[in-house]
Amino acid sequence: MKILVVGGGGREHAIIKKLKQNKSVTDVFALPGNGGIAYDATCVPIGACEIDKIVNFAKVNAIDYAIVAPDDPLVLGCVDALEAVGVPCFGPRANAAIIEGSKVFSKNLMRKYGIPTADYRVFDDMQAALDYLETAPIPTVVKADGLALGKGVTVAMTRDEAKNAVVEAMQDKKFGKSGDHLVIEEYLEGPEVSVLAFTDGKTVKPMVSSMDHKRALDGDKGLNTGGMGTIAPNPYYTDDIAKVCMDTIFMPTVKAMNKEGRTFKGCLYFGLMLTKNGPKVIEYNCRFGDPETQVVLPLLESDLLDVMMATTNGTLDKTEVKIASGNACCVIMASNGYPASYKKGFEISIPNEILPSVYVSGAVNKDGKLCTSGGRVLGVTSVSDTLSGAIKASYDKVSKITFYGAYYRRDVGQKALKAVEV
Ligand code: AMP
Ligand code: GLY
Repeated sequence: MKILVVGGGGREHAIIKKLKQNKSVTDVFALPGNGGIAYDATCVPIGACEIDKIVNFAKVNAIDYAIVAPDDPLVLGCVDALEAVGVPCFGPRANAAIIEGSKVFSKNLMRKYGIPTADYRVFDDMQAALDYLETAPIPTVVKADGLALGKGVTVAMTRDEAKNAVVEAMQDKKFGKSGDHLVIEEYLEGPEVSVLAFTDGKTVKPMVSSMDHKRALDGDKGLNTGGMGTIAPNPYYTDDIAKVCMDTIFMPTVKAMNKEGRTFKGCLYFGLMLTKNGPKVIEYNCRFGDPETQVVLPLLESDLLDVMMATTNGTLDKTEVKIASGNACCVIMASNGYPASYKKGFEISIPNEILPSVYVSGAVNKDGKLCTSGGRVLGVTSVSDTLSGAIKASYDKVSKITFYGAYYRRDVGQKALKAVEV
């Protein structure tokens, strides 16, 4: 089978490595891929949002199955466009990808169908939002409606911070049109859990739970990033909590989307907060998370392609999603300075025996050498019987990978370890 994967980060690298375990996969094309993905797939210089070119490539190369991994092409209708020329796809159509593409949509969906989430108000007018903030409970959370490269959320600890976020979004247009509408919501507290689940619109089969490390510095300090590391399973996510989530969040969400005429197929990502009043939805993503995928897929025992195709064909109820019993840890190595400014173009050295554990997100091939090209450069994943074993194995590998200005958090998994020990 000829497979096409749209995207070019560590998540896509993890998807591609897992797909290649299926013997019927003969060719994998990554659009655009990256210098590291090029070891495992044929990279084609077509951007993830160049939908016409993607469709044309799929037709010309007789692609059998396409996987659209990132949020923007999903929201822009890449799956719809590929399906229109007869290419079966993994991922939601645009009318379902809106669950990530618009926070106003997702919050209103949850309110309408009684799915637990933070209380909220929607604003289209800056003055009305500022007036509301004069008396709103603080802390509060200000969220731009549309996609904002993961930067559209401000957790405001003071009234001034909240007002500033409103002005930046609505007057300064920091997020372009994504900030024309804002959600201002209740501040929630509790451990955060990410759950990625396959769904064909009828059945929901979650993968192993995980924990992201979003801040740049140790101890959850510094700026928000795309994610500096992950562990799985998340020790806060017990079997009892999983059952509550299935009954009050996962199934109700899939049913709600059906009722709205927006059947969701693909991977639905639930960003959850386990509050003292029960689990609540912080955000939905319409896709695999990055870097959650880099710990979740190594713990998936079932064949990824079979499960993906079952979500497309509507046969997920008959398809097993088997999770391995171990623990996984992924440590992200970034360019010094990320997520603010950083330099790139430095040669990366990775010992051969570590290559199978590496998922590359920001690197190019220059004269046969792998060189840094992004803020997050690569992730290193290990699987072990214990969480401490997985953490140690990943840091051992990290210590053997070198590039100028390599930066990584030293405490990935430590919070989870403390939770295990309690
Ligand atoms: P996002 O960019 O949507 O992933 O949100 C970034 C982070 O903001 C989340 O991972 C949470 O830590 C935090 N956050 C979002 N919504 C809330 C909320 N209602 N209460 C407290 N923290 C929140
Ligand atoms: N790691 C969070 C995300 O993929 O959005």
